[in-house]
Amino acid sequence: MSLEAIPGPPGGADGNVGDIAAAGGLHTFQLRLHEEYGDVARFRMSGLDLVSVADPVLLEATARINERPDPLFAFLEPLCEAGNLQTLPGEEHVPWRRLLLSTLAGRRTHEAYAHRFAELAAGLADRWAARTGPVELQQELSELSLRMICEYALGGIGAEEATEVVGAFEVVLTEYLGRMYRAPEEEARAAEALRFLRATVDRVIAGHGTGTGGRSDLIATLADAGTPPARIRDTVLMIMLAAHHTTGVSVSWTLYLLGRHPDVARRVTGEVDAVLGGRDLPEYADLKDLPYLEMALKEAMRLYTPGPYGARETDTDLAIGPYTVPAGATVFYPFWALHLNPRYWPDPDRYDPDRFTAENAAGRPRFAYVPFGLGPRSCEGAALALVEAKLVLAVLLRRLAFTPVPGREPTPVERFVLWAEEGIEMRVAPRTGRARPDGVE
Ligand code: HEM
Repeated sequence: MSLEAIPGPPGGADGNVGDIAAAGGLHTFQLRLHEEYGDVARFRMSGLDLVSVADPVLLEATARINERPDPLFAFLEPLCEAGNLQTLPGEEHVPWRRLLLSTLAGRRTHEAYAHRFAELAAGLADRWAARTGPVELQQELSELSLRMICEYALGGIGAEEATEVVGAFEVVLTEYLGRMYRAPEEEARAAEALRFLRATVDRVIAGHGTGTGGRSDLIATLADAGTPPARIRDTVLMIMLAAHHTTGVSVSWTLYLLGRHPDVARRVTGEVDAVLGGRDLPEYADLKDLPYLEMALKEAMRLYTPGPYGARETDTDLAIGPYTVPAGATVFYPFWALHLNPRYWPDPDRYDPDRFTAENAAGRPRFAYVPFGLGPRSCEGAALALVEAKLVLAVLLRRLAFTPVPGREPTPVERFVLWAEEGIEMRVAPRTGRARPDGVE
């Protein structure tokens, strides 16, 4: 059976690019595609036939694929000297992933950095507490995430240098990611910023083991394993890229939803107050005692999936439901559509953190909830991201109350992540009382 047997919209000379643009982007196109054509649907883009699968059980057949399609990730090539990390061939990817997981996923590293992450979040809470008028959350929370990952990836470089690194990274991203949506604008400036970032990583590599300069678990792990310097530079940049907007929007959308659901917000702040007692700053050990905060975050990542889609290239024929997807075809992962699939998420648009109690989650297929992707190319930073996001939320909710600005409903658009087009504005005020664990202030 060929791909044509799979239902999907008819395409013109440029495939379904017009339909994708008309839908507002791939993030919203996937929702319409599956509404209209069912859980397995086909479309065409970038010269590729893509088979999109929005049923978590059918996705099991794809869970071992370890290749990504080059054309969809070509925009990241300028950031890599030693080969595009997003599309490394499987045999090169496996040892790279193993190294990353050995540091990013380990409890030791989370514990070591948690206090610093909380301090950085407290700096933002101080600035917001002093602000009058609404605050735009998304930009500042993304900057905070970049600052956190910069400290993580580059070690304890000084505050001034960290500010320079963050600035240079913004220049690089605005230029290179911006090219997904427009023509090159500031090539020379971006190239200079990239040179600066690479030189900074080199300095940390050179200082590694000598006790001078910053100490980075990530760089130490890569260097000790004999990773060539160019691959270390690429990895650090890719980690900073993968880590910062994703974590920033996860926290922003969570605060946005809490602002619109005061009952949930009261339960979360009640839990945070009970766990922190007289302290303002959470520590790593507190996180295990904040299950409702974690559920509120997870449910926000379901409704506003930070990375709304992914893709793989299969090297074998796959049986997906009644169809055979031939080797060489591109499998599209519609993460957002999966998270809104009413068969697994009744009343899918409702914000309800209790969907994630152990009891309610039991029996749900494992790929029904995949904010960090799935299989051998899933996010290596998932565990670290949850630590960061929970710490930031705990710091902010301990200190501040977030309420909506009437008439300001954000529109999700695709800017590499699920980004709010006009930002997420909220009123932010220092909290007066302490909530009880049952949620009563
Ligand atoms: C809430 C925050 C985050 C979200 C929602 C997120 C989500 C994702 C998603 C959806 C993918 C693609 C997975 C796939 O194709 O199956 C991905 C890949 C990746 N993420 Fe994350 N991520 C987050 C934070 C982070 C952090 C903090 C790091 C590192 C410290 C990180 C590092 C990576 C890397 C290296 C990849 C590439 C995976 C590979 O090709 O092997 N991410 N992430």
